[in-house]
Amino acid sequence: MTDGQPIPVIIDCDTGVDDALALLFAVRHPALDVRAITCVAGNTDVDGVVRNTLTVLEVAGAGDIPVARGAERPLIEPVRTARHVHGEDGMGDLGLPAPTRVPVDVDAVTLLRREILASPRPVTLIPTAPLTNIALLLRTHPEVTRNIERIVFMGGAVATGNATPVAEFNVWHDPEAAAVLLTAGVPITMYGLDVFKRVLVPAGEVQRLRTSPEASLRLAGELLAHRDPATSGDPTPMGGLGDAGAICAVVDPKGITTEALPVEVVLAPGPARGQTIVDRRPRPGESEIHEGTREQPLVDVALDVDVERYVNLYLETL
Ligand code: RIB
Ligand code: CA
Repeated sequence: MTDGQPIPVIIDCDTGVDDALALLFAVRHPALDVRAITCVAGNTDVDGVVRNTLTVLEVAGAGDIPVARGAERPLIEPVRTARHVHGEDGMGDLGLPAPTRVPVDVDAVTLLRREILASPRPVTLIPTAPLTNIALLLRTHPEVTRNIERIVFMGGAVATGNATPVAEFNVWHDPEAAAVLLTAGVPITMYGLDVFKRVLVPAGEVQRLRTSPEASLRLAGELLAHRDPATSGDPTPMGGLGDAGAICAVVDPKGITTEALPVEVVLAPGPARGQTIVDRRPRPGESEIHEGTREQPLVDVALDVDVERYVNLYLETL
């Protein structure tokens, strides 16, 4: 909270197992005023994302938050979902009932513009998905930047990727959109894979959530247990908070260690497309000496995270 007032936030998501964990946390934490949630294709198709988002909000008792449907596909690339990770329905195939609510009757970019400009205090934007909606917003209504406090996005990687050896899924899915984001001209925090993958809820806590009498806690437990290596055959550890870590970084920014670094998205076709090149060199190199400096925007890149701090924050909030 700044000056005791809740922080106005808008989440742009591709719900998604971990987007769902992020939503369950965001609508619960008293320091956040979730003004709207917008949906984009990513983990699954955009209509599946809308359905999953509405379902999660209903389980969480937050059915009054407006939800809008956004981009059906990236700016250039086709939709390349992550159903192999998030399940056929995009949210762990938990067999949840269909939502009773429908999205608002305007598109995501319109809702984003409306809610950002209407907010009495600058909004913190939290994309936890491919950045297609955010790029379309910034190109269609650049005036919104005057009322954006910061964009804290889950995406990119300083070191190892997941979609490719070097590219993280949200940026890889729509690299051009990520490049537009980085030149938004507002403060940006990159909550990348390097910290994303470390925030794991212990198995005992996951089991406790799964047996809770409260529906939203049970859902969180099921989502956290969704990728149990013992049953999924996938080595990815169970209990990952994933996107929810980016929300924690808004509530408790001291839980991450950031450094203001130049970040460039590789757009050229080839094995590095979608990589976020984070320049951690202490000084320019021969490239700058012989070929001149490539001006890249400075981004507050998360280099470390206090795992226990965010796990406790998440569990205490739910
Ligand atoms: O690379 C991780 C990101 O891709 C997360 O946002 C996850 O939900 C998927 O969208
Ligand atoms: Ca996501």
